[in-house]
Amino acid sequence: MSLDSLVSSEFQTRFGVPPRFVVRAPGRVNLIGEHTDYNDGYVLPMAINRAVWIALRERADRQISVCSLDFDERTEFSLDCLQPGSTHWSEYLKGVAWALKEAGHQLQGWEGVLAGDVPVGAGLSSSAALEMATARAFECVSGFPWDALTIAQIGQRAENEWIGTKCGIMDQMTAAAGIADHALLIDCRSLAIQPVPLPPETVVVALDTSTRRSLLDSEYNDRVARCGAAAAHFGEPSLRNVSAEQLEIEERRLGGIMHRRARHVITENERTKLAAAAMRRGDIAETGRLMDASHASLRDDYEVSSRELNAIVDVARQQPGCYGAKLVGAGFGGCAVALVASTTADRFVEVAAAEYQEITGVQPAIHICTAADGAEISDNGRDGTDYLSP
Ligand code: GLA
Repeated sequence: MSLDSLVSSEFQTRFGVPPRFVVRAPGRVNLIGEHTDYNDGYVLPMAINRAVWIALRERADRQISVCSLDFDERTEFSLDCLQPGSTHWSEYLKGVAWALKEAGHQLQGWEGVLAGDVPVGAGLSSSAALEMATARAFECVSGFPWDALTIAQIGQRAENEWIGTKCGIMDQMTAAAGIADHALLIDCRSLAIQPVPLPPETVVVALDTSTRRSLLDSEYNDRVARCGAAAAHFGEPSLRNVSAEQLEIEERRLGGIMHRRARHVITENERTKLAAAAMRRGDIAETGRLMDASHASLRDDYEVSSRELNAIVDVARQQPGCYGAKLVGAGFGGCAVALVASTTADRFVEVAAAEYQEITGVQPAIHICTAADGAEISDNGRDGTDYLSP
């Protein structure tokens, strides 16, 4: 059963009526441009055909009551008394409610059923998908205008200030503004988006190492802080304003680690722009080569790879028809992404899975992804019936 049918039928079972709305927000893979978003740089992600779905109806009061089918748990909280809790999926709902209120929106309560198929903690942005689905749910019942960029910023604020991860804007922007069959070249300084068609006759494959890193947040926040310090060394607000030449002149004064961190960011921005241009002219080999170079830089200069990520990237590259591969998202565990010729995709999935398992002893999960639209309210949810709960 598809997830929209599942959340709808569970809603019907629990509430005795069909949902008033069904919303969906996707996860993402990032083809290239890793750890550049919080440096005002460039990213090239795409929203994927894995998403979080919520079936819901408005409530007459200011309570939020949501049942997660994935966690088999229900959360309930009041919009009038938002209190941070533990690291629980419901914190993303509360964080979005808090950030929407902070942005001046009058919110209404709602109740519903939630399910998703974006693997959690795998670097495919299950949290941004949950944030953007939650924002859509609030939009349904509270009626504020949906502007993808503004809502993405609200989601980022929830993540930065409620959850405490100092993430950039990439994940929320992609979940909010994805375009089917396209990657998005996002300039994270101006927030301008340029859709880039995916290369023909290729597929994008997400390779989940099935490993997760618990210190992810502290390592991530450490990278953010070091980049800020490197930019400050140059008297600039971000590394976007620092050139490769300036960096090399300062190498000794910056010191080894800070220099390598900054070199990753500065070279990754260049690779990302080049990859978008290569994709536009259909140069798949060059796109893949740039993805390979991105992984090397993330592994050696930024030091956010892991044994399993390196193994799955190496295995992927050895397969016929693979143009390039790199880790995805923050790193330290989770997924890699590969660009693969469509004709060899099935064989690629089979052999890469077997070889990775043989090397690491861990069974991977490999998903062929298509590029999806961003967060939306599905049409069949807008039936106009008044199911307002007491
Ligand atoms: C995580 C963050 C993003 C981005 C990536 C690395 O996914 O949420 O903002 O920084 O890591 O590119």
